[in-house]
Amino acid sequence: EIKGIIFDLDGVICSTDEYHYQAWKKMADHDGIYFDRKINERLRGVSRAASLEIILEKADKQYSDEEKLALMTKKNDLYKELLSAMTEADVSKEVLDTLKELRAKGLKLAIGSSSQNTKLILSRIGLLDFFDGISDGTIISQSKPNPEVFIKAAGILQLKNENCFVVEDAEAGIDAAVAGGFHSIGIGSASSYEKAEHKINSFREIINLV
Ligand code: BG6
Ligand code: MG
Repeated sequence: EIKGIIFDLDGVICSTDEYHYQAWKKMADHDGIYFDRKINERLRGVSRAASLEIILEKADKQYSDEEKLALMTKKNDLYKELLSAMTEADVSKEVLDTLKELRAKGLKLAIGSSSQNTKLILSRIGLLDFFDGISDGTIISQSKPNPEVFIKAAGILQLKNENCFVVEDAEAGIDAAVAGGFHSIGIGSASSYEKAEHKINSFREIINLV
């Protein structure tokens, strides 16, 4: 029985996955590192530091820890510049209506995101006070595919993992859900991932699964 739903943020609730790509692309171009949308797919759900390591596989020099920190800071500054233009209009009516409908059905709703910018994004899109729990990159020590962020979300909701859905656009996120014993729903980039228990093409289809 499903009593709660844990939503990934970037690429599920809002399209910040595109802003992540644009910010990494600008950083990579500036440093002459090859980066494209195919490589970007591997960054979904993955922490900032792990994302940089994947990007640097294409670099032709070694970067020191100090230089890596500077690159991450540069990327996050570029990313936050993009976030500053976000408003409530950056959540689709479909997402908002579906969230409200799920809430009205008595389900507990949480965010489970690797991002350290989670609360900033939620406040920009007017959803900071909407969810029953927020588990994010500021309270975890291991990023997806480790299930820590979802386990903490279920803990905040006071629900068993097996009573929760995890909604994810990242393969790493589906892997994390499976590893934690959650039921999983793949959407967007994860909508054809074989490990996703349910696969949907649009957000409102979640209603049919609860
Ligand atoms: C995830 C994104 O939600 O958050 C990743 O899918 C991103 O692409 C990760 O790297 C960390 O985000 P942030 O905002 O802490 O750099
Ligand atoms: Mg995502």
